[in-house]
Amino acid sequence: MRWAFAGGSLVVKIVCIGGGPAGLYFALLMKQLSPHHHITVVERNRPYDTFGWGVVFSDATMDNMRAWDAPTADAIQQAFNHWDDIELHFKGRVIRSGGHGFVGIGRKKLLNILQARCEALGVELMFETDANSDADYPDADLIIASDGINSKIRTQHAAVFKPDIVTRPNRFIWLGTHKQYDAFTFLFERTEHGWFQAHIYKFDEQTATFIVECPEAVWKAHGLDRADQDQSIAFCERLFAANLRGEQLMTNSRHLRGSAWLNFQRIQCEQWSLFNGRSHVVLMGDAVHTAHFAIGSGTKLALEDAIELVAQFKRHGDAPQQMPEVLAQYQAARAIDVVRLQNAAWNAMEWFEVCGERYCDQLEPEQFMYSMLTRSQRISHENLRLRDKAWLEGFESWFAQRQAGASAPTRPHAVPPMFTPYTARSVTLKNRVVVSPMAQYSCVDGMPGEFHLVHLGSRALGGAGLVVAEMTCTSPDARITPGCPGLWNDAQAQAWRRIVDFIHRETDAKVAMQLGHAGAKGSTNAPWDDTGADRPLPHDNWPLIAASAVPYLDDGGQVPRAMDRADMARVVADFARAARHAASAGFDWLELHCAHGYLLSSFISPLTNRRSDAYGGSLANRLRFPLEVFEAARAVWPEHLPMSVRISAHDWVDGGVTPTDAVQIARAFKAAGADLIDCSSGQVSAHQRPTYGRMYQTPFADRIRNEAAIATIAVGAISEADHVNSIIAAGRADLCAVARPHLANPAWTLSEAAKIGFTAVDWPRQYNTAKPQMEANFQRERAALTAPGGSPR
Ligand SMILES: Cc1cc2nc3c(=O)[nH]c(=O)nc-3n(C[C@H](O)[C@H](O)[C@H](O)COP(=O)(O)OP(=O)(O)OC[C@H]3O[C@@H](n4cnc5c(N)ncnc54)[C@H](O)[C@@H]3O)c2cc1C
Ligand SMILES: Cc1cc2nc3c(=O)[nH]c(=O)nc-3n(C[C@H](O)[C@H](O)[C@H](O)COP(=O)(O)O)c2cc1C
Repeated sequence: MRWAFAGGSLVVKIVCIGGGPAGLYFALLMKQLSPHHHITVVERNRPYDTFGWGVVFSDATMDNMRAWDAPTADAIQQAFNHWDDIELHFKGRVIRSGGHGFVGIGRKKLLNILQARCEALGVELMFETDANSDADYPDADLIIASDGINSKIRTQHAAVFKPDIVTRPNRFIWLGTHKQYDAFTFLFERTEHGWFQAHIYKFDEQTATFIVECPEAVWKAHGLDRADQDQSIAFCERLFAANLRGEQLMTNSRHLRGSAWLNFQRIQCEQWSLFNGRSHVVLMGDAVHTAHFAIGSGTKLALEDAIELVAQFKRHGDAPQQMPEVLAQYQAARAIDVVRLQNAAWNAMEWFEVCGERYCDQLEPEQFMYSMLTRSQRISHENLRLRDKAWLEGFESWFAQRQAGASAPTRPHAVPPMFTPYTARSVTLKNRVVVSPMAQYSCVDGMPGEFHLVHLGSRALGGAGLVVAEMTCTSPDARITPGCPGLWNDAQAQAWRRIVDFIHRETDAKVAMQLGHAGAKGSTNAPWDDTGADRPLPHDNWPLIAASAVPYLDDGGQVPRAMDRADMARVVADFARAARHAASAGFDWLELHCAHGYLLSSFISPLTNRRSDAYGGSLANRLRFPLEVFEAARAVWPEHLPMSVRISAHDWVDGGVTPTDAVQIARAFKAAGADLIDCSSGQVSAHQRPTYGRMYQTPFADRIRNEAAIATIAVGAISEADHVNSIIAAGRADLCAVARPHLANPAWTLSEAAKIGFTAVDWPRQYNTAKPQMEANFQRERAALTAPGGSPR
C-alpha cells in the first residue's frame, strides 16, 4: 500500500463511490476526524439531481448525528418538518392518533446540506462521474462503496460479499404532491381488482412524498405493467381523487425507462469488506442492506453506518495495519442493529403486502388502524398508550363494546382487550387467556388423580378464562408415555368429573378436554425418565400405529405400522367414545389434537404420510382421516358446546406443511364444524428448524383467522399481558394460550392484570386479601419506572 505523509501525519486516500447520504456523511465525518486525509466523493449525478422526495427519521438519529457533527445536525434540524400524528383514510372513515414523532426532510435538501458541509471541510466532490469499478481508483487506500441499492461494486465482488437479495412481490411508485398533509397519512382504496394503498408524508412546506403500493397481480390487472410514467400518474390521480381534490401527483424519476413501478429488494450481505490487492473496499448504506419504506429507516441506517465506521477509526486509529480490524469491527457492530431493524421492517412490509387479502375487507376501521399501527410488532399495546392514551382508551372502549354486542346499553369503559369476554357457541369465557394443554406424565393407568386436581384446579383459580387439560388419550396404546391420562373407560371419566366439578364449583373458569392419540410418538419415556422424552421405553413397549411406517426419530425410534382400514375404524370409535366420556365428565369445551406429529398430525403432514390410498397424496386426501375423526367426535359432543382443533401450522422442514397449507387445513375443519383453530407448529419432524422468538407462532393464527375466516387461538412465547392485548386488539387471534408461564405461576392472569394496573378482575374470595397488596406493589414499581431517573418502557 502507498501510504503518504503530510506534516508528519499519515495521509490516507479515501474514495467514496456514490454521493448519497452514506458516502457524503462518512466523507465529512472522516475529514473532520482526520483533516489531513485526502477524501473524494464520486457521484454520477449533478449536485442538484436526485431521485426521490422526502425521507423520514427519528429524534434518536438526530441526537446521534448531533454528537458527531453539530453543524450538520443543526442545518438538518432547521430544514426538518416534525409531525406527530398518523391518519388513516379507510372505508369512508378518517382515524387519527398522535404521539408517533417523525421528522421529514427533502432528500435533495439533505444531500445539499451534506454536500455543503463536505465542501466546507475540504472533501473533494466529483459530480457527473460514473465509477465503473473500485479498480478505477488504484491509488485509494480505502474505497467506500456507497453506491446504493444497485451497487456495482457489490455486484463485482459478489463472490466475497455474498449478497442475499430478496425481491418482494408488491409494486410501488415513489411520487410527490403539493397537496398539504399535516399527518403521516395512509389512504386505502379498493378497486375492482384489489386494494391499493398510499403512504404520504410531508417533507417541506410545499411538498409531500406520495408512495403508491399494491400487489403485483392487482398492478397487472390494471394494465400498469404496460403504463408509462404519465399514465401511471394519471391512474393514481384518479384512484386517490377524493383525497387529492384536484392536486396533482408528480414524478422526479423520469430517468427511469418505462414503468416507474418498482419491487422492493431486501439486501443483506454476509461480508461487508474486502481487500482488492491495492485498496480496502467496504460497503455502506443501501449497498450492503436495505430497509423497506414501510418503516422509513434506510437513510437512518446509511447515516449510522457512516458514524460507526468513523467511530471505529477513532477507536483503533487509521494506521494501515489497523484497517482490517477497523473494518471487521464496523461490520460486527452494525450487523446486529441492521438485522434487528430489517426484521421489524420485514413485518411492516409484509403487513402492507398482505393487507389487501387479509385485513382490508375483514377488519373494521378501528381495528384496521390498530393493526396498521402495530404492523412492525415493535409497537405494542402499552407503547400505544404512551403515544396516545386518549386514542387507545377510545379503541379499548370500542373493542369492549363490540364484544358486548350492539344491544349493550352503554359504552363500556376502557377494558384491556385481554379482559374482554369471548363466546363460542353457548360458552362464554370471562377473558381471552387459555391455560395451554401441558402433558404432566403423572397418571397411573390413564387415571388423573390428586396431582391433576391440584394442578388444574390451581390454574383455574389463577384467573384464566379457559383451562385446557393435557393431551388425554383415547386408548391405552394411544398414550405418549405410561404416565399419560386417558378417557377410554368410565373410571377415568369419573376421575375427570371430580376435577371438572371442582373447577365449576370453586371458580368461574371453563375447562376443556384435549383428546389425542400419540401415533408414532407413543410408548416413550416421561422427560425425566431413563433416556428422556421421545425415546422408546426401556421395556414393555407397545406396538405403534401411524399414517405410514415412519418413525419420529431416525436414531432408534420405534417404527410404527401403517394403519389399515380396521385400525382406522377402531381409532374413530375410540375418539367418539372418549368424546362421549368428556361430555359425561362435564367438560365445557373439546379440543382435537391434530398437531405435533401425533397420530392425526401424521396423516396431515406429507413428511409422515406416505400413503398411496385415499388417505395419502393430496392435502384433501391427507385430511380425510383427521376429518373423519373430527366428525365422529363432533357428532357425539353436545351441539351447544364448542370444539377447537390444534394443528401444526408449519412443519419448519422443506417439503412439510406450510402456513399456506394451514389456511386450507383450517378451512377444512371449519367446514366440518370446528369453532376455533389452535395454531401451534412443529414437532412433526426431528429435523425441524423453527424460528423462535416472542409470539413466534402468532403469524399463523393471524393468517388463518383472517384468510380462512375462523376464530383462532395463538400460542407460543406469549408471556405478558402486553402481548395478549396486542394480539387480541389487532385481530390476530381470538384467544391466547399460555403454557410455560402457567407452570411457573398458576395465577399468571391475575398477576398480569395487577402488573398493568387493571383492577377490575375478580380474585377467588379466599385470596382476596392478597389482591390490593399485589396491585399496590406493582403500582409502586410502575411509579418508580416513570419517576425522574427511572427508565420508562
Ligand atoms: C420509495 C422509497 C421511499 C423511501 N423512503 C425513505 C424514508 O422515508 N426514510 C428513509 O430513511 N429512507 C427512505 N428510503 C431509503 C433511502 O432512500 C435509502 O435507504 C438511502 O438513501 C440510502 O443511502 P445511500 O447513501 O446508501 O444510497 P443512495 O441514497 O441510493 O445513494 C447512492 C448514490 O450513489 C450514486 N451512484 C450509484 N452508482 C454510482 C456509480 N457507479 N458511480 C457514481 N455514483 C454512483 C447514486 O447516484 C446515488 O446518489 C426510501 C427508499 C425508497 C425507494
Ligand atoms: C410441559 C409441556 C407439556 C406440553 N404438553 C402439551 C399437550 O399435552 N398438548 C399440546 O397440544 N401441547 C402441549 N404442549 C405445548 C404447549 O401447549 C404450548 O403450545 C407450547 O409450550 C408453547 O407455549 P409457551 O411458549 O407458552 O410455553 C406442552 C408444552 C409443555 C411445556
